[in-house]
Amino acid sequence: MNDRRINIRLSLVGFLMVTMGLGWMGCSPTGSGGSSIVVGEFASLTGKEAVFGQSSHKGTLLAVEEINQAGGVLGKQIVLKTEDTQSKQGESATVVKKLITRDQAVAILGEVASGRSMEAAPICQQYKVPMISPSSTNPKVTEGRDFIFRVCFIDPFQGTVMAKFAKKSLKASKIAVLTDVAAPYSVGLADYFKQQMIADGGVILIEQKFSSGDKDFKAQLTAIKSMNPEAIFAPCYYTEAGLIVRQARELGITVPLFGGDGWEAPELLTIGGKSMEGCAYSTHYSPDSTNPKVQSFVKKYKERFAGEVPDAMAALGYDSAYVLVDGMKRANGTDGQKVRDAIAVTKDFEGVTGKTTMDANRNATKPAVIIAIKDGKFAFVETINP
Ligand code: PHE
Repeated sequence: MNDRRINIRLSLVGFLMVTMGLGWMGCSPTGSGGSSIVVGEFASLTGKEAVFGQSSHKGTLLAVEEINQAGGVLGKQIVLKTEDTQSKQGESATVVKKLITRDQAVAILGEVASGRSMEAAPICQQYKVPMISPSSTNPKVTEGRDFIFRVCFIDPFQGTVMAKFAKKSLKASKIAVLTDVAAPYSVGLADYFKQQMIADGGVILIEQKFSSGDKDFKAQLTAIKSMNPEAIFAPCYYTEAGLIVRQARELGITVPLFGGDGWEAPELLTIGGKSMEGCAYSTHYSPDSTNPKVQSFVKKYKERFAGEVPDAMAALGYDSAYVLVDGMKRANGTDGQKVRDAIAVTKDFEGVTGKTTMDANRNATKPAVIIAIKDGKFAFVETINP
């Protein structure tokens, strides 16, 4: 046997020894065996709602890094495996299945958009792997599935908050609604808003529809203009919101437009420009809060991510990881059923978006924050308690 062949043989044996050894010692990052625990995350890291996924991921990552630095959980380090949903329909179930079956993730964190959380939830339920959505607000995400949780408020509350805001702060009760019928989030929030507006004696003068990805809203806005509403509610995501507001101003509509947490992104101002002045939306948290826990989070996040200020998705992503780890600690293990049972009784868990207590439907109850666009910037207006 010549030298070269011996070398190849030796290195092959060495490779096998290393991989087998690592596997045996539990160093391979799958499941919860050995020295690490795999947590899966799915997020829109690219595509139309990339801001949502990127922010949420950064918040989650920061929490995981902190937890690992402090010794991990149950004496093990967490390995966060993140899959990109590309902001697309039909990706979430596939990537979450991969995280569970290929990577043996013991729990799943994600998504931001309700529609994508709704696609993945049945998979997590089927495999009995607990899933925590940081920021999906549509009630259907957790409905009827006892392994699915969220750490944010839900849209019946958000809709009520915005109906009250319209009446009280915008002094508007003749409203036009513009809904993205391709996003369950938008359809749900529009509905809850209308119910409250009508219950409070307001009128929905006109309702118009579009689909995620549309770029021209002139027809809908022209119809809306002809009804002379006092304000326009557009519960959609930031890309469309920015375009809608800009085109509304181009058509000479001067009344305020307002939305929900889907408006939360710096891109809203880049896309909407000066037209955004005086518009407002509801969200989950404000980095301007004087709460020391929030301020310490903002500081750590800025240090970790090149001076970036964490938004609501980042804050909720951060809290979702901590709520999961708190559940694992109380379950004293990573067994899906036990972790689920522990998360279900989460009570007053202090995070950066307030206290998380899981209700009987595995939803959290938290205050909403109203942000208005003033002098080209996002300005905190008020906190509304549930
Ligand atoms: N609540 C939105 C949804 O359910 C997602 C979102 C959360 C957007 C937080 C912005 C901020 O689809």
